[in-house]
Amino acid sequence: MSTEKIRKDFPILERKINGKPLVYLDNSATSQKPKQVIEAMLNYYEKHNANVHRGIHTLSDEATHLYEDARKTVAEFIGGKPEELVFTKGTTDSLNAVALMLQRDIKKGDEIITTVVEHHSNFIPWQRIAEEKGAVLKVISMKESQREGSPDFPMRQLKNLLSKKTKIVALGHVSNVLGTVFPVTGISREVHKYNKDIKIVVDGAQSVPHIPVNVKKLGIDFLTFSGHKMLGPMGIGGLWIREELAEKLTPFSYGGGMINKVSIEKSTWAATPHKFEAGTPNVAGAVGLAEAVKYLEKIGMKEVKKHTQDLAAHAIKELRVLEDVRILGPLDAEKRAGLVSFVIEGVHAHDIAGVLDAKGIAIRAGQHCTAPLHKALCLNASARVSFQIYNTKKEIDYFIESLREGLKLLR
Ligand SMILES: Cc1ncc(COP(=O)(O)O)c(C=O)c1O
Repeated sequence: MSTEKIRKDFPILERKINGKPLVYLDNSATSQKPKQVIEAMLNYYEKHNANVHRGIHTLSDEATHLYEDARKTVAEFIGGKPEELVFTKGTTDSLNAVALMLQRDIKKGDEIITTVVEHHSNFIPWQRIAEEKGAVLKVISMKESQREGSPDFPMRQLKNLLSKKTKIVALGHVSNVLGTVFPVTGISREVHKYNKDIKIVVDGAQSVPHIPVNVKKLGIDFLTFSGHKMLGPMGIGGLWIREELAEKLTPFSYGGGMINKVSIEKSTWAATPHKFEAGTPNVAGAVGLAEAVKYLEKIGMKEVKKHTQDLAAHAIKELRVLEDVRILGPLDAEKRAGLVSFVIEGVHAHDIAGVLDAKGIAIRAGQHCTAPLHKALCLNASARVSFQIYNTKKEIDYFIESLREGLKLLR
């Protein structure tokens, strides 16, 4: 499908911002939604809305089928089974759920390994467990990986940190600042070679929307992701839990819809994944997310990866022509997903975002919820452009031209 044709599916791209056509380059924060997703959700509310798994009436049955079909579509998209996929509010919600469940087995002195690159959503939950349980949070510094030509992931550092006390390794698949795609399959192989009981938690917020992801190939225990970053609606996301583990784990939230039997003396839980979904779920969200997955599948994730990587390569090439620009993360776009963060010496990232907004261009500026990484990079803030399947090289050229003009004002 041509980019021109794809763009017609996204009504918001027709908008003008400050009198200029919208150039939306903030896709890592949230992506735009095609009309197919919006219509699927509208259709659900107009024709099928009812509560799921409960009523013995036609609408409830229809809603249940739509919800469970959506689960199958989303699970298969990441190479999993429907029984392994829990619908949540998104990545943050999923990671907190994992932390709540895993903390039960954490004792004083146990160790959790994460990296300095993580989004706060994949950092603070582990920090809290460490504080509450007297565990030790070990943070891979990733210093080596910042230098050009160095390995993408400091495997030796990880190996040195692994110990008999390691219980959890939590890391992101794609950094939302550096853009680096980390070699999760190799990492999980190393970790499980050391001890197969260590739980590997992967934050897929930036990988699932941009590159093909297959949980079985990754060899991990948990994968978390957000619907709104992958053309789907806000308020819905996924938590994939390896089947054998999902069967063993005790739920993290209790109430209606997740039980088998309840009595005053004792309650028992429904089978997975239902035991992890207490309360009324976001059915319209699940329907919208499944439609987003179908849209991405129609294009093909290999093509999504190629398109967004090509845009990243073009942005890096053009940004490097400008004076005093520092690109964060690898210069080789092959090592990246479709996002590029940068800093320009002497100019604050917020000012860059401001002058670009006046030209109708939406980019991100700040710390992108990665304060430890920004501290490690000795930066207060950075600017980020991030791409989706509807972005074009022409838009990047317009962004560069507007940035060049803006810098004349800002310097
Ligand atoms: C790498 C990463 N992890 C986690 C999140 C949090 O996602 P959400 O706000 O959808 O829960 C984000 C969002 O930007 C992210 O980029």
